[in-house]
Amino acid sequence: MSDYWKNHYDANAEKFADSPLKQVDRTINGEEMSQAQLDLTIDAVVQALDLQRGDRLVDLCCGNGLITEAIARQVEKIVGVDFSEKLVEFARQSNSAPNIEYVVSDVSKLPSDFFGEANKVYMRDSVSCLNSEGLSRLFRLIGGAAHFEKLYIAGVPDADKLAVYYDDDEKMAFYRQREAMGKPHIGTWWTEEEIRKLIEAAGLQVSFYAQHRELASAYYRFDCVIERARPASQPDSGA
Ligand SMILES: C[S@@+](CC[C@H](N)C(=O)[O-])C[C@H]1O[C@@H](n2cnc3c(N)ncnc32)[C@H](O)[C@@H]1O
Repeated sequence: MSDYWKNHYDANAEKFADSPLKQVDRTINGEEMSQAQLDLTIDAVVQALDLQRGDRLVDLCCGNGLITEAIARQVEKIVGVDFSEKLVEFARQSNSAPNIEYVVSDVSKLPSDFFGEANKVYMRDSVSCLNSEGLSRLFRLIGGAAHFEKLYIAGVPDADKLAVYYDDDEKMAFYRQREAMGKPHIGTWWTEEEIRKLIEAAGLQVSFYAQHRELASAYYRFDCVIERARPASQPDSGA
């Protein structure tokens, strides 16, 4: 599946060279999303991670750096990572800053020391491109990083809302046809339980959140914040 998405986003980078929003599928009914929607998208990262000046972040699946650049203004350092060379090339040219580093890599194949410096990590509207194996490896790597505090996964397509999104026979047939062709429309749809299982297996804990109600994707996507699992409370000493 990852070749499929890499090819899709490399092609998008060239096809929509004059539309950074379209390059990363930030569209609503085929049109570029509004600045208000983009602002809500960026604000959600700031709020969910409770960003502070001294934070060192990783932006997983950063695309063309549209969000990375906005977030970088509020923190000490940010590393954006994406496997589309073409989007990363655009990011380096158009969305750079002294505190941003862009890395070309598949996020499910990052080296074990990749999160060494980072205390907060986010993945915005990209988890649908991953499968359980890749996501599980990522959770373990992040959970094992020395400074890790919070991971925000935003925009998870909710498997329980599949029929709300593809809400008539024609749309559902389109979804099924794309899946059968190995050319998914949106990618992996996740239930909260599937996500929770992978997270808990990595020794982490998760809280699920509805998206801001004015976000156009709120009716079929959810967000989650992941932290280290708190140790079970000590038994009462009886004193
Ligand atoms: C919908 S775009 C979102 C980009 C950006 N996060 C944003 O919110 O604007 C999805 C991005 O995920 C990247 N991507 C998908 N699977 C990936 C993987 N396994 N490793 C690295 N990048 C990946 C794509 O290249 C693309 O840039």
